[in-house]
Amino acid sequence: MSKPLSKLLREEQLAFLARDRSAWGEHLNRVRAFLGKGLQAADPTRPVLILGAGSGLEVPWALAPPLTTGWDADPWSHLWTALRHHRWPPWRFEDLTGGLAELGATSRRAVLEPWSGRRRGQEAAKKRLAGLLPSLRPEPQALRVWIRTHRPGTILAANVMGQFGVVAERVVERAFGGPPWEQDPEREDPLAEALVAWTAHAIEAFMQALRESDADLWLVHDRAVVFGNGGLSLGPWEDTWARQLHSDGQPFEASDTLAGVDIPALLLRDELKLVGKERWLWPVAPGQRHLIEALEVRRNR
Ligand SMILES: C[S@@+](CC[C@H](N)C(=O)[O-])C[C@H]1O[C@@H](n2cnc3c(N)ncnc32)[C@H](O)[C@@H]1O
Repeated sequence: MSKPLSKLLREEQLAFLARDRSAWGEHLNRVRAFLGKGLQAADPTRPVLILGAGSGLEVPWALAPPLTTGWDADPWSHLWTALRHHRWPPWRFEDLTGGLAELGATSRRAVLEPWSGRRRGQEAAKKRLAGLLPSLRPEPQALRVWIRTHRPGTILAANVMGQFGVVAERVVERAFGGPPWEQDPEREDPLAEALVAWTAHAIEAFMQALRESDADLWLVHDRAVVFGNGGLSLGPWEDTWARQLHSDGQPFEASDTLAGVDIPALLLRDELKLVGKERWLWPVAPGQRHLIEALEVRRNR
């Protein structure tokens, strides 16, 4: 993990923990119950892996079997977890997309002329990066190797998948020295579109690595971020997540955190057994609610 990336993730985590958490109670209860169920159902004789383990705010480590490893690229995550849960589990700090370092290097190359070190004009740099992004293919090599070596019986993805796109945006913004995104919603933004495609590849490759494992999967992630102050409720489960959202008539905007990737559909393609699925709303900040999706996937053993 490169220094700038670990610094970026540490700053993101600090900003996350510094938020007002007074309205998070129901989310924390539900996510801890879901992950706790996964840890209790795990075969205690086989390794367990917790991806996006973070500071352990959402992870009931007291229920984790002895052979449980945490994985989070934030360099402080292990220490935070130890302080919160009085436990010092084995830990991996690598980037789970496997592609952030290359994304950062490519973004910097697009911004600076390599021969002179001079900055390109903003529009030229954006166009250049939008053209380069489709050739990048994020691959979670470190995760694949870990899975092949340790053969975990259970893997928990603890609210990390929905972060891949957000972190990718921050990486690009750092290279540009600020957000390069088109502000006018009426105008096209080829760079933003190319980054959404990169994020979709990262999520699909990550899911492919999990599907190839022999592990039961407990996946919880931001399915969408909903902006707006009006009342919002959830109807019964709908395969198309946007259909599950019902407003009280006030307008809202929902952005897809998983770049259009439909996780249950991906799992069914491999005939994995999706035995549990639920969604709930997490009021993260005033005017910002996250639609959380939790999926329990079992193997035919
Ligand atoms: C929303 S937080 C999850 C919080 C965590 N489940 C907990 O209980 O504290 C997302 C976590 O994913 C980590 N993360 C984000 N992108 C990552 C990546 N590409 N590789 C590894 N970890 C990543 C962040 O460092 C952060 O700790």
